[in-house]
Amino acid sequence: MNSLDRCLEEFHKDAQRVRTLDELNRLKGRYVGRKGVLNDYLKQMKALSPEKRRETGQKINQLKKIMEEEISQLQKVVGQSTKKYGKVDLTLPGNAIPSGSFHPITLILNRIIEIFFSLGFRVEEGPEIETEYYNFEALNFPSEHPARDEQDSFFLPHNYLLRTHTSPVQIRTMEKYPPPLKVVVPGRCYRRDPMDATHSMVFHQVEGLVVAEGISMGHLKGTIELFSRRLFGANRKVRFRPSFFPFTEPSAEVDISCGVCAGEGCRSCGYSGWLEIMGAGLVHPNVFKSAGYNPEAIRGFAFGMGVERIAMLKYGIPDIRLFFENDLYFLSQFRGL
Ligand code: PHE
Repeated sequence: MNSLDRCLEEFHKDAQRVRTLDELNRLKGRYVGRKGVLNDYLKQMKALSPEKRRETGQKINQLKKIMEEEISQLQKVVGQSTKKYGKVDLTLPGNAIPSGSFHPITLILNRIIEIFFSLGFRVEEGPEIETEYYNFEALNFPSEHPARDEQDSFFLPHNYLLRTHTSPVQIRTMEKYPPPLKVVVPGRCYRRDPMDATHSMVFHQVEGLVVAEGISMGHLKGTIELFSRRLFGANRKVRFRPSFFPFTEPSAEVDISCGVCAGEGCRSCGYSGWLEIMGAGLVHPNVFKSAGYNPEAIRGFAFGMGVERIAMLKYGIPDIRLFFENDLYFLSQFRGL
């Protein structure tokens, strides 16, 4: 009798430790299974007197009922928690909440503006839907200039178009403020270019305009070289090439040594080792005239840089189309930058 009571006590203790279905099945086997403790007791009953046998038999059946009841209760609890949570391993790291990130173009735009801001530039903005006047005429584009062709620009009704560069904001800014000026203009631009690894119909530029007495090409070169060193590091090379823009004289194109191939020549730099990142020059007197400034009294320099090109150089991105495909696998690489 005593040992049966102890057996029940032990069962309760063991039952309290059960956490999983496996453990529950083992408990069941150990106590009420065919080879379990209770069956052992039943077998031992043969040795008892008929009277004792009856009493013990009843007691054993009672224990069996209690145990089976408790096991079926446990089954509900344990079964439920394993169904809901599987096997819970509390040592595993938690599930991270996915976080967003800035688009690489936004990252670079912010960085460019930060650098010019530290040099004393202010930020101006202008409309993406422009008039032909601001986009071309006021910038000294002759009316037969190929950029005015329907092949090159997105034209809208009533002489509006999607701006092909941020330069119209030069005029808008000079109309708004008297000299001296030191502004950068970030913004989206549009051209009817066929898409390839380095061209996109939609792209971003940052325009720069500095107007003051006695401005020269030296100021332009110094500013661009300082900017390039800050953005890319001192080991990237900068080169100025003579060029032509209707709204600057003299004009230059600025190249940076390719970061994908380190100047060797690859698909992203058209196998030249260099990537053109901006047009620049001294502000043409006719531009000052259109904006109502006196070209005799002041000088200025201007530049317009392609943000996608710069992001490609900075991050070693081989194809401009990656910026516009919204591929999360690509974009998530910039998380935390
Ligand atoms: N607007 C020119 C372009 O889009 C770049 C430029 C800006 C050139 C300012 C000179 C001065 O190509």
